[in-house]
This record gives sequence, C-alpha cells and structure tokens, in this order.
Amino acid sequence: MAAEKKNTLTITDNRTGKSYEVPVTDDTLRTLDLRQIKVNPDDFGLMGYDPAFTNTASCRSAVTFIDGDKGILRYRGYPIEQLAEQSTFLETAYLLVHGELPSARELEQWSYEITHHTFLHENVKKLLEGFRYDAHPMGMLVSALAALSTFYPEAKQIRDAEVRRKQIYRLIGKMPTIAAFAYRHSRGLPLVYPDNDLSYAGNFLNMLWKMSEVKYQPNPALEKALDVLFILHGDHEQNCSANAMRSVGSSHADPFCSAAAAAAALYGPLHGGANEAVVAMLTQIGSVKNVPATIERVKKGEMLLMGFGHRIYKNYDPRARIIKRIADEVFEVTGRNPLLEIAIELERIALQDDYFVKRKLYPNVDFYSGIIYQAMGFPVEMYPVLFAIGRMPGWLAQWEEMLNDKEQKIARPRQIYIGHAQRDYVPLSKRRPAPAAAAAS
Ligand code: CMC
Repeated sequence: MAAEKKNTLTITDNRTGKSYEVPVTDDTLRTLDLRQIKVNPDDFGLMGYDPAFTNTASCRSAVTFIDGDKGILRYRGYPIEQLAEQSTFLETAYLLVHGELPSARELEQWSYEITHHTFLHENVKKLLEGFRYDAHPMGMLVSALAALSTFYPEAKQIRDAEVRRKQIYRLIGKMPTIAAFAYRHSRGLPLVYPDNDLSYAGNFLNMLWKMSEVKYQPNPALEKALDVLFILHGDHEQNCSANAMRSVGSSHADPFCSAAAAAAALYGPLHGGANEAVVAMLTQIGSVKNVPATIERVKKGEMLLMGFGHRIYKNYDPRARIIKRIADEVFEVTGRNPLLEIAIELERIALQDDYFVKRKLYPNVDFYSGIIYQAMGFPVEMYPVLFAIGRMPGWLAQWEEMLNDKEQKIARPRQIYIGHAQRDYVPLSKRRPAPAAAAAS
C-alpha cells in the first residue's frame, strides 16, 4: 500500500540518530522549527545559514508575484503588460498600496490627495539649496526624505491607519518635486513649483524642463512614456530596497526615515544603477560593427554584458519587452538614440548564441531604459532617481503589509560567531606594537 502523503519533512540528525518531523507549508520550512534539533539539552539548537537571503522567505506577501522562469510579473494579480497598457501610474500606485483597483470615485480622491501633497516646505527647499552644485541627486533625495521626518512628527504614529495614509500621500506626492529640485539645483536653474493642473508625470516634466513659458505643456508621448516607466518600476517584491524599507520600518521608524533607507539601498550600482552602466557600455562599443567583437569578449569572461541576466528572471524580463516597445514612441519625439541600433544588434546576436542561451541570459529592465532616459534628456545621475519615484508605492505597500502582519517583529537576523573566544583585556603599555609600526621605528 502506498505510504500516506504528508506535508511534513522528516529530518534525521546523524549526530544523535534522532528524527524530527517538521511541517512544510507553501513548499517552505520554518527555520524556527529547526531550533528543537540539539545534541545537548543546553545547545542553542539548529539554525539556517543563508547569506544574502538567496533561499529564505522573510515574509508572506500579497503585493507582487514574479515567476522568473516564465518571465511573469504581476502586481496584486494583474499582469504588468495589462497595467502598462491600460492603467496609469497613480492608479497602479493605488492598486499596490490598497490591494485592489480603485473605483472612479476612489481614483479621483486618491489623485486629488497626491496632487495636493506635492509642495515641499520652503525649509526643505533651503536644505536642497545647501548642497554643492555637483551633488549627486540620489544623495539629495536620500537626505530630503530623511529630513521630511522632522517636518511631520505625527508620522511616528505608525499604528494609526489615517496617519499612515497621510504620509503615503506625502511620500508619493513629493518624490517628483524633490527629484526635480535636485536636478534643477545641479544645473543652477531656478526651481519650478508643482502645477496641480498637470498629471503626475506631466507635472514632473514641468518641474524639470519649464523655462520662461507661462504654462508648461508636456509632450503627451513623453508624458505617457514616463508614466509607463514609473508603472514598470512600481514594485519587484523582496529586492534590496524593499528589504531595507521593511527592515528599518520594523523598528517602527517613521515612513520618511524608512523610505530614506530604501532609497539609499537603491543608490547602489548593483540595484538601481545598472542602466547607467548599459549606456556607458553601449557608448564604448560605439558602432554596430563592433558588436561581434564585444560578444566574443563577453564569452571569454573579459566583460559582462550589462543589462543582461537577472537573479530571478531566467527568461526575457517582461519589463524589458514593454520598454523596448515604448522606445519607438519616445524616439518619434526626441529623434532616434544612435545607441539603440547597437543595443538591438547586441540582443539579436546574444539571443542566438549558445553562451547566453545555455545560461538563460536575457535583457533585463535596465537594457533599454537608460537609452530612453538619455534620449529624453536626463543626465545619467538621474536614472536611479527616476527608478526611485516609480518604486515609492511599492516600498509603501511593502511597509504597510509588514506593519499589519502579526507574525512580523523587529528584523533581527542571527549570526554564526567566528571571532575570538573570551580573552583578557591587555593594558596599552603591555601590548606589542603592530608590525608596520615596529618596522618604522
Ligand atoms: N554577461 C555575461 N555573462 C553573464 C552575465 C552578463 N550580464 N550575467 C551572468 N553571466 C554569466 C555568469 O558569468 C555565470 O557564468 P558561469 O556559469 O560560466 O560562471 C552565469 O551567467 C550565471 O551568472 P550569476 O552571476 O551566477 O548570476 P546571478 O544571478 O548571481 O547574477 C546579475 C545576476 C544581474 C547580477 C548578473 O546577471 C549581472 O551582473 N548582470 C549585469 C548587470 C545588470 O544588468 N544588472 C541589472 C539587474 S536588473 C535590475 C533590478 O531588477 O534591480
């Protein structure tokens, strides 16, 4: 007779010969269930070791679903392709934060609230003006987000849903203003205040590019393209910055400080900075005729093909497919970015080459986004800032979900201690000089 199937795992500890049965839920083991496995009764018990959390779920989440093998990305169950095609960034932000698409009335109210929280306190403006002319806009963004915490002390009441809602309006509303002020500061241009008649993306373009015209009219194609780019960056489940948002938020820091931490995580070149590296690589390749030689260098391990490969996606990144499509619409307005020809040729050759096929290396979100940003006139330092504007609703959705999850506590990983055992303090006069100092004396 076939053995009865159980959702458990039987673990035999070969150190003691004892067996343990632990539950398996959602194909996952709770590592706390390992703690009972001990050799001696006063042992701490077995832990899991997983540097960089490559195989550890830190939460149960209903925000974003990714199937990396099939190239699927969904926010709250809705495919990214449908949202990019039919939704707007503000509607998608509502979806991410609330879990459902809004009714017409809810969307109107939500858009009104975000639009009416776009202004910055004049002292935040002064803070930004205090940065050097060549300050990186990500450094300015991280600082401004943390500074907002001092302007809204009620934000500390993280258990009050109404208070949380207000900070969510503020954070989504003020991101484009901070970003545009940082950009204008770097150019020495006068700051442009928000225009509440314009859409979220349209107002951002207004604050970036308005010069002497009385009323700025955003180009509809560029406004739409930017809105779609924001949608595509809305959330990406437990990535480095979402993890930072949750981790800092788990100490009950206010959402401005938590968002500053998330933005700081995004600043790193391994996370929000790869599209900049793609533009640098394509510029260096310089011409379509140099593509085959570049591919050979990549295959010899002399360089990485930036914008290719992903820890999760082992198929075409669905965001890259959408970005490639909107590139044409942008180039109709801006003129074709010559780097596009090189990118298309790189992709064409790579996708039929055994090296890339065997390793499942496909274009990721960064492969085409930098080319579009460059064509739209953004300097490379602004690329991660654009990423951060789009990602804010995702950070906030992850933060609220963490706060409302009864199983969550302050994030506090364990460690395997590999340092010295106890030793006695040595007075300064009895310590041996360090080798370098000894040689110099
Ligand atoms: N070009 C050439 N070879 C590559 C590349 C690449 N871009 N990416 C991976 N490989 C090779 C790698 O050398 C390894 O080969 P082998 O098996 O012979 O040693 C194999 O493919 C597996 O790579 P891995 O390093 O184990 O993969 P990973 O999951 O640790 O790395 C990655 C993922 C994104 C860091 C990596 O693919 C990479 O560095 N890509 C270029 C940078 C980039 O485009 N980053 C943007 C990521 S998307 C942004 C986001 O979602 O936040």
